[in-house]
Amino acid sequence: MIRPILKMGDPRLLRHAEPVTDFANPALAELIADMFDTMHAVEGVGLAAPQIGVNLQLVIFGFGKNARYPDAPAVPETILINPQLTPLSQETEDGWEGCLSVPGLRGLVPRWKLLHYEGMDQFGNRISRDVEDFHARVVQHEVDHLEGILYPIRIKDMTQFGYVDVLFPELEADSDE
Ligand code: NI
Repeated sequence: MIRPILKMGDPRLLRHAEPVTDFANPALAELIADMFDTMHAVEGVGLAAPQIGVNLQLVIFGFGKNARYPDAPAVPETILINPQLTPLSQETEDGWEGCLSVPGLRGLVPRWKLLHYEGMDQFGNRISRDVEDFHARVVQHEVDHLEGILYPIRIKDMTQFGYVDVLFPELEADSDE
């Protein structure tokens, strides 16, 4: 079931999310299915539970080819619960980000280039990965949502923040983000 996505300004996007403790609860599987339905309906590359008003440490991400980020390499479809992030070097990289909760806009955001992340999948099995570049960026963006952080707060140069149809007129006009 597609759920409404909260937009910037909604105080529910500013909360610290609670850890998931009950992996056997069928409501968790239903929530994850709804998150994928919602993300796919708007061609998102990731979605965090707080974006649909659920204050849990749960994010999903991944795609093969995405119209909103045509140059991005594929990222495996992942359900990441109770995540912990550790940068693998101090090196950061600037890249353009959008957010389904900040429709129509993009900003240039610095992120760790090399990232280790850990967490659980939907069954409570451990996930542990070292990633880089866009994959690392997506994870950092989604996990920020669990701490009430939206990407505009991370933009260093506010001249590099604007409307996606102005910045990237070549992107599909029918995308609502
Ligand atoms: Ni977002």
